[in-house]
Amino acid sequence: MSKNNPVVFQLQTDYIAKMRGRKERYTVSHAGCEDEVLPNVFPPYIDSELIARVMHIEKGDEVLDVGSGSGFIAVTASATARRVVATDINSAAIETIRANAARHHVEDRLTALKTDVFPEHKDVFDVITFNPPFSDHAAADVVERSVWDPGHATVRTFMGGVGDFLKPGGRIYMSWAGFADLQFIEALFDVHAAHYKRLDDVSDGTSIFVAYKVTLAA
Ligand SMILES: C[S@@+](CC[C@H](N)C(=O)[O-])C[C@H]1O[C@@H](n2cnc3c(N)ncnc32)[C@H](O)[C@@H]1O
Repeated sequence: MSKNNPVVFQLQTDYIAKMRGRKERYTVSHAGCEDEVLPNVFPPYIDSELIARVMHIEKGDEVLDVGSGSGFIAVTASATARRVVATDINSAAIETIRANAARHHVEDRLTALKTDVFPEHKDVFDVITFNPPFSDHAAADVVERSVWDPGHATVRTFMGGVGDFLKPGGRIYMSWAGFADLQFIEALFDVHAAHYKRLDDVSDGTSIFVAYKVTLAA
């Protein structure tokens, strides 16, 4: 886990410092998509691109993007989906998602909700995506919770509750990082009787990120 990996911990600390250091909104380009990012919001990284690349969205799908950050995955899904709901605990992320929905002219079908993991009201989706914070490490505020998830509480809540929000036969696209222990996440899938498949991976030279397709037993 990252707290035991000083190189990854330093990279995460630097990423957080950059998020905090921004004083105004700025733009980033990823996979041919230019997005706005507000200060204190996680800018898209190669793990964000990985999920956006592997997820299969069909016309008419309803999609939930948990921990949406800048909304990069949610906006990508909105190009095809009938309806996308994006959640995040960070108010600045919600503002960023709404700005990007308007920027890409998908605000009619992309809704951003400030909430802890799932929408507060019962809703079901064909596809659920989640590029989560990977590291079991204390987090002082929502900015640090972009990368640190004490006790893996958020990802445990996600796997514990995702079945209530997924239509029968629905699919989950989720990432995990090698430094956070692939065996940990695969054991968590097993606990929830989930079938999983590694779809692809990407490396930034320090860390490997794996994209999973997860389905739940009927
Ligand atoms: C690694 S970032 C990924 C952001 C975006 N999905 C992407 O791929 O670029 C993780 C995101 O999850 C959000 N997050 C962390 N814990 C959360 C929780 N309990 N409920 C909702 N969002 C959460 C963070 O605020 C952050 O935006």
